[in-house]
Amino acid sequence: MAASLDYPSMNRDDHNYLAGMGRDLALALTRSPADRGDAMRMLGLFRSSLLLHFLQEEEVMQEANYPGFFLHKFSHEALTARLTALQSCYAAGRKASVAAAWPAVQAGLHSHLDRYDVPLVAFFERG
Ligand SMILES: [Fe+2]
Ligand SMILES: [Fe+2]
Repeated sequence: MAASLDYPSMNRDDHNYLAGMGRDLALALTRSPADRGDAMRMLGLFRSSLLLHFLQEEEVMQEANYPGFFLHKFSHEALTARLTALQSCYAAGRKASVAAAWPAVQAGLHSHLDRYDVPLVAFFERG
């Protein structure tokens, strides 16, 4: 079965999983400095999972010749850059900056979902 046929359910499962990870990460980022290693690992795992999700979405869009592919991919790249910057900031020990910046990253992810992923799901549901 082509991956695109499964896209709406893949999208829902992935987004639920990533949202759960994001909530756990938000808590970890505000915990004591003793938990810094945990937060770093969670941030790395969240980033890897998100990148894998983006790659899968892009593969599905290309497979289906989705007309909004380039704008959607560009938005993925912008979100990846923000997350990479956040990870570097945390690695450099600027924990307060990361805790302050995380809500903006989450807002960017939600806005991407509404603006790009919802129409993509609708495209596949229309068939
Ligand atoms: Fe997505
Ligand atoms: Fe997306």
